[in-house]
Amino acid sequence: MLNILAISGSLRAASTNSALLAALARNAPPGCRVTVHDGLGRLPIFNPDDEGERTPSEASRLIDAVTGADGLIVSCPEYAHGVPGGLKNALDWLVSRDAAVAKPAMPVHASPRSLFARAALAEIMRTMSFAMYEDRLEIALLGKKPPEVAAILADEANVLAMRDAVQAFADFIRRQT
Ligand SMILES: Cc1cc2nc3c(=O)[nH]c(=O)nc-3n(C[C@H](O)[C@H](O)[C@H](O)COP(=O)(O)O)c2cc1C
Repeated sequence: MLNILAISGSLRAASTNSALLAALARNAPPGCRVTVHDGLGRLPIFNPDDEGERTPSEASRLIDAVTGADGLIVSCPEYAHGVPGGLKNALDWLVSRDAAVAKPAMPVHASPRSLFARAALAEIMRTMSFAMYEDRLEIALLGKKPPEVAAILADEANVLAMRDAVQAFADFIRRQT
């Protein structure tokens, strides 16, 4: 069984990125478990002085979750042409240790227009030595209300696309090990 961790870069209760990741978890193919990490909003702001023995518990929880996962899926909004601060903060907690090194990672997209954030996230994650898998799963949920989001994510073609994307990522993970 492959354990895949999913991280949403949006803290919004009705986040389309979080809804996409929850749907990926529900529709994971056999042999894969996708778990959505929910602690980004409780992470202290990264401070290199607080590493090692002083690492805050919420940061340790994130680091352990990423370390223990076989792969990582990330979905995030674009804010002012950038990656949301909360997600960058979470990634910063992973930089000066082994958690990210060679860890397979796949970005997925809930907005068709977040091109600056996509490029920035890819650059950050490549720099951190994640093994990037660019499957380009995109399900356009931008601006949709929760009932519409739920309907789009339940659509048969989208369910299939999500399952195929996670399956392709799982195959990529297995090729890495
Ligand atoms: C403060 C703020 C800044 C934003 N800046 C951009 C932007 O630069 N480019 C863009 O495409 N969308 C921008 N958006 C729109 C969000 O990226 C979009 O609504 C996203 O789908 C929200 O994701 P969520 O539903 O997961 O919270 C911005 C939204 C907010 C709240």
